[in-house]
Amino acid sequence: MSTLLTDIKVIDYKFYVNGQWKESQSGQMIEIQSPYLYEMIGRVQAMEKEEVDEAISLAREVQVEWANTSLQERAKYLYRWADELVNMQNEIAPIIMKEVGKSLKDARNEVVRTADFIRYTVEEALHMHGENMKGDSFPGGSKSKIAMIERVPLGVVLAISPFNYPVNLAAAKLAPALIAGNAVIFKPATQGSISGIKMIEALHKAEFPAGLVSLITGRGSVIGDYLVEHKGIDMISFTGGTNTGEHLAKKAAMIPMVLELGGKDPGIVREDADLVEAAKQIISGAFSYSGQRCTAIKRVLVHEHIGDKLVGILKEEIERLAVGSPEKGNTVVPLIDNQSADFVQGLIEDAIEKGAKVVTGNKRDRNLIYPTLLDHVTEDMSVAWEEPFGPVLPVIRVSSDEEAINIANKSEYGLQASVFTKDINKAFMISNKMETGSVQINGRTERGPDHFPFIGVKGSGMGVQGIRKSIESMTREKVTVLNLSL
Ligand code: NAP
Ligand code: G3H
Repeated sequence: MSTLLTDIKVIDYKFYVNGQWKESQSGQMIEIQSPYLYEMIGRVQAMEKEEVDEAISLAREVQVEWANTSLQERAKYLYRWADELVNMQNEIAPIIMKEVGKSLKDARNEVVRTADFIRYTVEEALHMHGENMKGDSFPGGSKSKIAMIERVPLGVVLAISPFNYPVNLAAAKLAPALIAGNAVIFKPATQGSISGIKMIEALHKAEFPAGLVSLITGRGSVIGDYLVEHKGIDMISFTGGTNTGEHLAKKAAMIPMVLELGGKDPGIVREDADLVEAAKQIISGAFSYSGQRCTAIKRVLVHEHIGDKLVGILKEEIERLAVGSPEKGNTVVPLIDNQSADFVQGLIEDAIEKGAKVVTGNKRDRNLIYPTLLDHVTEDMSVAWEEPFGPVLPVIRVSSDEEAINIANKSEYGLQASVFTKDINKAFMISNKMETGSVQINGRTERGPDHFPFIGVKGSGMGVQGIRKSIESMTREKVTVLNLSL
């Protein structure tokens, strides 16, 4: 493992415009610190507005030609990109690990999952066909009118990604945009931008037309609004926090957007659930990558009759979780920064002050928060409602399905929910009442497999992702009507 690390040099990374790697005229660099090595691992360019303008103007030009190429032609580039990512996995995975503190295994999985995602996106697009409609199916309509409905690209897509899947959640925007005939302006999370740069290196090797994809680096708080309000952007695909997403939605006005935002996914455990299996799913859902997943299980709503038993199993399993450096393959790793750890610690302390019981955890070493289980959490505690994005799991005891549904739906978020039960009818009853994009029955909350629709409702987002849905969101329908003389 240490060999891998010493192989990675601290370097100044360039931005990518017009198929070239460039230094910014600003002369300003942003330092990227590793969340667990506590040292600088590289610097990225803080780009200027004029450089952003150049990238967008080029993208607009190149997109027209790209949209005119055949689907088979575009497919070849994307397949090559997927192959290059797989070829580069030994280079990219250690960078993801160093930059966002994810274990090497998870980082490698992320790269391979991304290549699979790209290939499936191509295959989906190859099998998407338009539709024809005949005029005479409407009263008074004529047989001589035939509508041909096809999907056309929107133009230039702005892809903004979060830190936690710096390759996968970026490519999940680029691939559907490109296969559909769009150009892309990609703005990675600053912490995550080196990983994003490596992903673009793979794309560069696939020899896409120069200017079709540009990578913009710089703090969202500095250049984000400029990008979002830019007249050259035709669609925005954003994944990140709810506050940022809401801010962007106001700025973007009438530009079509897909927002995938935060979550507070509940794990509802009914009296009849298989508790051992439920605990296994809840723990994997709540603590993998320290809970830094939008889809992490972020609260447990358990029937009071089985509360003690479930909490006992959870405690035992949580205490077995491997905690520490991602280089040692640990599950619970230091959080992305100290500020995030302060936030999680604050939630724990607020809950304790208001009467929650610490079952295990509540230990901290810098930005490493040990996995923490809080029992007897009540609705007046912030941890019952806030998204911690960290390894703390609150348990709220309920006396009925109705109470669980009520508390689950009181959340401002609506990403996913899990229901653990042996009664399939009850599972469907709860699922039907859940105000979330998806409900998992007897499984942890998660995005994949990546061709499933992935939907956030309420504060969790707007629009739908998932391979086919993403392609649809980055295209619009175009109708050509044939008026025959019959
Ligand atoms: P974040 O702070 O909201 O940042 C997300 C992206 O937005 C980054 O690229 C950031 O750039 C950029 N940004 C910030 N301000 C901007 C502005 N004014 N204009 C344009 N872009 C701006 O989120 P994060 O901390 O990276 O990720 C954690 C959050 O994302 C959690 O809430 C999590 O639940 C959510 N998330 C949701 C999903 C989902 O699919 N539902 C998936 C993953 C994560 P900088 O880094 O330069 O600030
Ligand atoms: O962080 C948000 C991601 O969309 C979650 O993806 O469920 O595959 O970890 P995942």
